[in-house]
Amino acid sequence: MINNKNQECFQNEFFLIVPIGLEEAAKLELLEWCGILAVGFGSGAFAKNAKVVKGGVTFSVTSSSVAFYLNACLKIPSRILQRLHVFQTREWAQVEKELKIIDWKFFFPQGISKWEIAASESRMNNEKHLAQFLNEKFENRFYKIQSSGSIAYLRVHDNVFTVSRDTSGEHLHFRGYRKKQGEAPLRENLAAFLWFFLLKNHHRLDVERAVIVDPFVGSGTLLCEMFLWNQVIQTRSYDSFAWIPPEDKIKFQQGLERLNLWKLNLVGVDMDQEMLNKAQCNFKNIKAMNNCVRLIQGDSTCLNRDVVRSISKRVSEASHLPKMDSGFSFSSSSPLWLISNPPYGGKGRISSKKSWRELWQKALETYQPQWAVALGPERECRESEIFGQWKCIETQRFLNGGLRVAASLWKKNESTTKVGPS
Ligand SMILES: C[S@@+](CC[C@H](N)C(=O)[O-])C[C@H]1O[C@@H](n2cnc3c(N)ncnc32)[C@H](O)[C@@H]1O
Repeated sequence: MINNKNQECFQNEFFLIVPIGLEEAAKLELLEWCGILAVGFGSGAFAKNAKVVKGGVTFSVTSSSVAFYLNACLKIPSRILQRLHVFQTREWAQVEKELKIIDWKFFFPQGISKWEIAASESRMNNEKHLAQFLNEKFENRFYKIQSSGSIAYLRVHDNVFTVSRDTSGEHLHFRGYRKKQGEAPLRENLAAFLWFFLLKNHHRLDVERAVIVDPFVGSGTLLCEMFLWNQVIQTRSYDSFAWIPPEDKIKFQQGLERLNLWKLNLVGVDMDQEMLNKAQCNFKNIKAMNNCVRLIQGDSTCLNRDVVRSISKRVSEASHLPKMDSGFSFSSSSPLWLISNPPYGGKGRISSKKSWRELWQKALETYQPQWAVALGPERECRESEIFGQWKCIETQRFLNGGLRVAASLWKKNESTTKVGPS
């Protein structure tokens, strides 16, 4: 992987920055989207050598346009970097020589907005010295520091220097639709992961048959991410795509023509009408989303069973699914799935009088879902745990804004006697 002579080899190598713990999911998402883009780009879109490393996924694609377009497609990563040069040395003179190989003007036509430098376990470990070196030897001679430019990355580990440029611009979790939010909104890429976590065990037909409820919907991030999962994000600006040749723009469109919208039946419940209004505003920013989502004000820990049943019925009545002639029977007996980020209890960021466990257990009993996914504090979500009829069959741990959290997947045991709120 180390190249001292020919930087050409590295121009098509990319790196997805991914929250630690979600790398495998991001790799699967990458491979799926590359398959879709291959409709237009052919084998030039296939991700080669996709490899999970801590905090990311490395891969290469023949067409760099594909990697830039992935910024509009992938939902789990937070950035996509393009590798510019990799070399190994312990000498400053060699660092200078190697960095001069990079075509700075080509890769940073608008300059560099800032350097992100990380160094460890190397002879040149001091990040301040590295920044000073770049400033003295390269700034204004090879590139300018300008706010309109892209971020440049220098990583030094075990005396291996990796130089990359950012292709994403704004952090990818800024999708552009969330204009309103509550106290502790879930980061969009983590919400997308929760949907992936539920989705990976199901076929599209199962998903379209189910009524999917977020019982603590807040500003609606989870529902938005479910709707957008297999769509291109249209609500971001893509200035960095300007260089893409017109023939590649056509190839991208050809891939997208194969995508058709999933017909989801989404329900959001929240006890706070103000939050529901915010969610409604956010949904309006996503084209066609309002057609498949219903919002209900209520307490998810003690909602009356009849109300729960009528949720399915109301969605069914408003449903866009072809009812009679498609073979689907969409009724109040449709399977119900839950997906949520319930409040964590206590006085933290997601405060509430009830604990996370109490809220989640009550929500399971209230809605009686067949499948459910929740995000909660790590210490509260344990694999094999049983809440009434529901068993936690899988967990995935990761960091959410410095907090150790876990996604948990729950399945209803259909054979045991039904329990629920009296
Ligand atoms: C952590 S926020 C959800 C954040 C949401 N995922 C987002 O990104 O905006 C929790 C929400 O649960 C709601 N809530 C708390 N207790 C509730 C209950 N018993 N029933 C329904 N909603 C509740 C709060 O009003 C709040 O909007």
